[in-house]
Amino acid sequence: MSKKRSSKVPTQDSFRGENAADYTSARWMERIQKASTRRALDLLVDERIGGAIDDDDTRDGIVLDAGCGNGFSTEMILERGFKVVVGIDISPDMLALRHLPNPVILADMGRLPFRNGTFFVVISISAMNFLSQELDDPTKARMIYDRFAKQLNEIMVPGGRGVIEFYPKTPSELEIITKTFGSRAGFQGFLVIDKPGTRKEQKFLIFRK
Ligand SMILES: C[S@@+](CC[C@H](N)C(=O)[O-])C[C@H]1O[C@@H](n2cnc3c(N)ncnc32)[C@H](O)[C@@H]1O
Repeated sequence: MSKKRSSKVPTQDSFRGENAADYTSARWMERIQKASTRRALDLLVDERIGGAIDDDDTRDGIVLDAGCGNGFSTEMILERGFKVVVGIDISPDMLALRHLPNPVILADMGRLPFRNGTFFVVISISAMNFLSQELDDPTKARMIYDRFAKQLNEIMVPGGRGVIEFYPKTPSELEIITKTFGSRAGFQGFLVIDKPGTRKEQKFLIFRK
């Protein structure tokens, strides 16, 4: 990945080897990831998923950063006052470039290696869409997102909340994901679209168990 802003759609290779180092040193990427995470954290206190969060929950509730990469998003979550943030990422090269001391796990977020009822918050920024990136078959994509959402529901505590920023490949994939997180997996969920119809459009799922 070049340090200049790239217009290419990222793939898993974008987070391996030298590309991981390029990602980490690209200021524009850091800016975007951090801005997206700050927006996700604002949405975490949306009235539709429960409004303000208790100080006790901020202090004691465990946060999962799914697809944490080198930690740009994690840094913002810690800055917002959450004390315990666990990261998971599939790329050892991205995890090796982290500069934060919080615990991380090298694993596929499609198979979450956590006990039920562990997390109060799940945040995932620009990562979930990689679960279906190689797939053309909508039925398979639906299975993958159903399984992912079901696993998230299991590892969250009752009343737990999540915000996922993502880039669906197609309108039908967006519909699958919105329905899955809307209620199919057991969440109360909503789709939020920022700057719709512009180059800067961003999609966020906000949900509560
Ligand atoms: C665009 S980066 C975003 C990283 C992070 N939000 C940040 O602050 O930099 C996407 C990340 O998702 C990770 N990823 C992609 N597919 C994954 C999977 N199946 N399981 C876990 N992580 C995955 C990549 O390795 C990469 O680190």
